[in-house]
Formats: sequence, structure tokens, C-alpha cells
Amino acid sequence: MLKAVEIIVPSDKSISHRAVMLASISKGATRIKNLLMAEDIKRTIEAFQAMGVKIKIGKIGTATIFKHGKNGRCPYFIVHGVGMRGLKKPSRPLYLGNSGTTMRVLPGILAGQDFEVVLTGDKSLSARPMKRIVEPLVKMGAAINGQRSRQQEIYPPLKIRGGRLKAIQYKSTIASAQVKSCILLAGLYADGVTCVSEPEKSRDHTERMLKMFGCRLKAKGSRISLKGPVELKSPGAIGIPGDISSAAFFIVAGCILLDTKITIRNVGLNPSRTGILDILKKMGADIRLRESPASATYGVGWVSELMGDIMIKPSKLRGVTISSKEVVRAIDEIPVIMVAACFAKGKTVIKGIEELRVKETDRIKSMVTNLRKIGADIGLKAEDERLKGRASGPEPEREHIVINGGMPLHSAKVSSFGDHRTAMSMLIAGLGIKGNVRVTGLDCINKSFPGFERLLHRLSLAGSS
Ligand code: S3P
Repeated sequence: MLKAVEIIVPSDKSISHRAVMLASISKGATRIKNLLMAEDIKRTIEAFQAMGVKIKIGKIGTATIFKHGKNGRCPYFIVHGVGMRGLKKPSRPLYLGNSGTTMRVLPGILAGQDFEVVLTGDKSLSARPMKRIVEPLVKMGAAINGQRSRQQEIYPPLKIRGGRLKAIQYKSTIASAQVKSCILLAGLYADGVTCVSEPEKSRDHTERMLKMFGCRLKAKGSRISLKGPVELKSPGAIGIPGDISSAAFFIVAGCILLDTKITIRNVGLNPSRTGILDILKKMGADIRLRESPASATYGVGWVSELMGDIMIKPSKLRGVTISSKEVVRAIDEIPVIMVAACFAKGKTVIKGIEELRVKETDRIKSMVTNLRKIGADIGLKAEDERLKGRASGPEPEREHIVINGGMPLHSAKVSSFGDHRTAMSMLIAGLGIKGNVRVTGLDCINKSFPGFERLLHRLSLAGSS
């Protein structure tokens, strides 16, 4: 008989950032139910507070279904929006800690303000490339200075002087929700139609939430446009679903633990984020979904996202090839998918992995180093991506990861590399081998998943009794 464990994971980080941002610049007060209470969101909240927005934790609502004020969910939060141009010049630089989403999306809003502001971050954030957002914003009319490298990349701190913006048609070379969101938010302040297209459709939380705040958008494939200027109006209330990127660790745990079935309640199931489910199902995972109308949890009109419960049973996984297109829908879950591949029978190949190099750490380096330490057979190969009939010379080779699963794994001491998803992925690997995988530098987990170790402990107890 399988032991049944039911868990709730913290609220969605991407949606929480957007809820605070849009509520701050809209007209009226917005109640946010189950806002993620983790380091990155605190940085976004502090940034808006420093620009004069009143943001408060309210009393716990009587209708709260989740009794978890802890575990990364704040039951009741109120943002008093100041309107599109109501932000005030902050008295000091805004420190954004480790939050890449704040550093890349907030400039879209700041580009439309009539003041100068400096954005700074910690060591890891200061090493993350920003040219991808600086370039389009400068084209729209903002003045932005960052630290330029010899290769002409741009890094934080960013000094942004906003002003009058003009609409642009922008073709992004990377599939990135942060880039897309930044440009769309700047487009709210610009005269005319701003349009962004990307090679693959990235997560669309900004588009969904903008609609809730009264903005009309047009979407055609991976091309989105809006006509500015736009005045956002508060929808009154927003409910945030559980984060599928946090659920991912326990979805993989459910596959590789032999004696436990796990149910994860009320997780966001936005199709632009469910790549992990499709990839694991392709690997043979026993995963079932019970979709629940968001209105059952939050009330009508509170959420613009699909939600549901995810049920996972022990599964015999097999190796598969994961395409670049699939990676876009599971970009943050690749580290834990690499763990799943180590427990699968046969070879797994993961393509289109370049963006993993510029996350909170170089996640290819951190995961390959760590997984090798516990005995995994994992390598990096370059892939000849020459397209037939196109360029005459050789095109740059693209890397892919190759994992030969099923090797005996063992205890080892590994490092988080300061990256929350590397840390949690390695702890899940440890759970699977019932060995002692010691991960140093676990503080970074608070970036997205406070309470992770407590939940993990519950699972290992369930597994051992
Ligand atoms: C995010 C988008 C993704 C993701 C990040 C959060 C967002 O980054 O990796 O954790 O909230 O928009 P990219 O836009 O760089 O793909």
C-alpha cells in the first residue's frame, strides 16, 4: 500500500511579482490573496514602497481556504495603487537582491516615469545580462546606463531615466517572459501600438493579468500587441495559485519515491508553464490532474489562470529527448528534470539549454558538477545545428545535455552554487537515493520556497515509516 501525502506549495513567484507591480500602478486598491512571501517578492514590494505605494498585510480573510499563512503564502495583502504616473522618485537606489524578474520587468514601468532611478542587486544579479531589456527600452526613448562588458553586454546597476516613450515593434531573439513583459509594460506608457514577438511563446502571466486590469491586448501566436497609453484599473482582488516551478520538486519526488503517492493542491496549470508535466509523462510518469475552477478557491473574477491538483505515483521513468521548444515551457524545471533523468532507464538528451547559463547561477555547470559528484553519468555535447540550404559557412554549435540514467547514485557533499533551484534539485536527488546528499548554502531557497526543507522532511518521514 502506498502512503498518501498531500501538500501545498508556495504561491507562484512570477504571478506574485506581476500582481504587486500592476496593482501598484493601477487606480484603486487591490487585495491579493496568497501572495508569495519569499525574498524575491519582498524586493518587489520594497521597491514600490520606496516609490510611495502603500502596501500592507491585511487581516486574514474569513474565506481563506488555505490555513497556511506560513509556507510562502500570505493570505491577505492590500496594495493601494497610485495610478500610472503616481510613483514618486525614491530617495535612494532600489536594491533588488537576487530578483532577476524585478530587475528585468520593473524597468518597463520605470521607463514611463518622469524621474531617474538606480536599480542595484546582489553579486549574482549584478552578473546577469540586461542588454535584452535595455536595448528595446532605449529604442522606446528611455535613457539607461549599465555596466558594459568588453563583449558589449550590459549588467546592473542600471540607471534609468524615464520619460515620453514611443511605441515599437520588437522582435526578440530569445523566448523570454521577462523581456516580453518589460516591453509590454513600457508600451502602456507609449503612444501607439507596441508589439513584441519571440521565437517561442514564453509564459503569458503578464498578458493575462493586464487583461484583468482592463488593458486590451491582441495575440497572434507568439506576437503580442497593445495600444498605449493605457490607464490600468484595479480589478479589486487577485488570487495567486501555487507555483508549478515549486511543485516540480515534489512531482519528481513522487515519481522516484517507491512507496509514496503525493497530491499537490491548487497549483497553477497555465499551459505556458506545464512543460514539466508533459516531459515527465513522456518519460513514463504516472501523473494525473484534477482541474478545479479557480473561482471555487478564490471567487469569481479573482484569477486569470488555470488551477488544479496534481497527483503523482511512483513511476518507472525512461530516457527521452527534450527539444528546445519543450525547454521554453519548463525553463526553471530543467535542473530537477535532470535529476529525474538520472533515475530513468536509458539516455535523456536536453536541447536548447543556453539560457540555463544565465540564471541565478550557470545551472548547467552547477547541476553537471553536482550530479557527477553523486555518481551520475552526465555530459555536455555540442550539437551541429546547421540548417539545410541556409548559411554557407558552419553555424555556431549548440550545446545539449546527455544523461545516461540508471547509474548507481551515492552520498556526497555538493553545493547550491547560491541558486535555489540547484539546491532543491539536489535535495530531491538525495531523497531518491536515501543517501546523505549534503547541500551547502541552503539559504538561497528562501528566494522562492520558504518551508521547503520542512516539507521534504515530512516526505522522508512518510517514506521511512
Ligand atoms: C520569469 C521568466 C523566466 C524564468 C524566471 C521567471 C518571469 O525567465 O526563468 O524564473 O517571471 O517572467 P526568462 O524570461 O529569462 O525566460
